[in-house]
Amino acid sequence: MLTSVSTLLTPRIFWVLLFLPAFRSAQSGTWDNPNCTSGVVSVLRGQPATMSCSISNAFSHINISLKANPTASKLIFNVKAPGNYCQDGWQLSIREGEAYLVIEEALDTQAGQYKWSLKGRQRHIRITTLNISDPQDLLLTPSAGPERKLRSLQTESQDKSQTQVVFPILALVVILALALICMLAWRQRRGSPLSRLRQVRRL
Ligand SMILES: *[C@@H]1O[C@H](CO)[C@@H](O)[C@H](O)[C@H]1NC(C)=O
Ligand SMILES: *[C@@H]1O[C@H](CO)[C@@H](O)[C@H](O)[C@H]1NC(C)=O
Ligand SMILES: *[C@@H]1O[C@H](CO)[C@@H](O)[C@H](O)[C@H]1NC(C)=O
Repeated sequence: MLTSVSTLLTPRIFWVLLFLPAFRSAQSGTWDNPNCTSGVVSVLRGQPATMSCSISNAFSHINISLKANPTASKLIFNVKAPGNYCQDGWQLSIREGEAYLVIEEALDTQAGQYKWSLKGRQRHIRITTLNISDPQDLLLTPSAGPERKLRSLQTESQDKSQTQVVFPILALVVILALALICMLAWRQRRGSPLSRLRQVRRL
């Protein structure tokens, strides 16, 4: 019984073992396996933004459209690969199986859903969302973490309107600290009312 099963299986296993490596290599050479920037990319207004897509083969054509809101969608690029292309504030550079979409200074009009239609050996659709936020909002929103606030402060330190907000607060903190130090020093020199009372009792 057992021998008959194994004699039945053996030829099959033989064929699978023979074809599996060939199948595997054919598969890796055939499928594009696209890998695009996923989810939401968030940048501050005026800051650079990059989105990318890569495939295991070479691109032959890429279309990118931007859906700024549910009703408005516009085609930004309809290009052959490889190549470097510019359109308004967008730069698309495609080399072999890599494509980069770069924005040097993000504008509000560039926020939205980017739909990439990719053509390598197959066709693929991928969507990445670009979120552009206001540096001022980030600074004043309590929900933004302290690191993000600090980072936005550092990157936006040249921004005059921000220094106008931060400087008076800093000045106030320094003045309060100085006042506290002076008061403590004065009290120590005079001695606190309690310690003077103790000195009087001891006398
Ligand atoms: C996809 O791309 C990102 C960045 O380009 C990389 O870090 C990641 O490892 C890639 N993932 C796969 C599955 O290749
Ligand atoms: C890009 O758009 C053109 C025109 O709509 C279309 O003919 C072409 O098939 C599209 N290419 C991809 C890769 O989606
Ligand atoms: C963009 O990010 C801001 C702050 O992080 C958030 O309040 C807003 O909802 C986001 N918008 C989108 C469209 O994801």
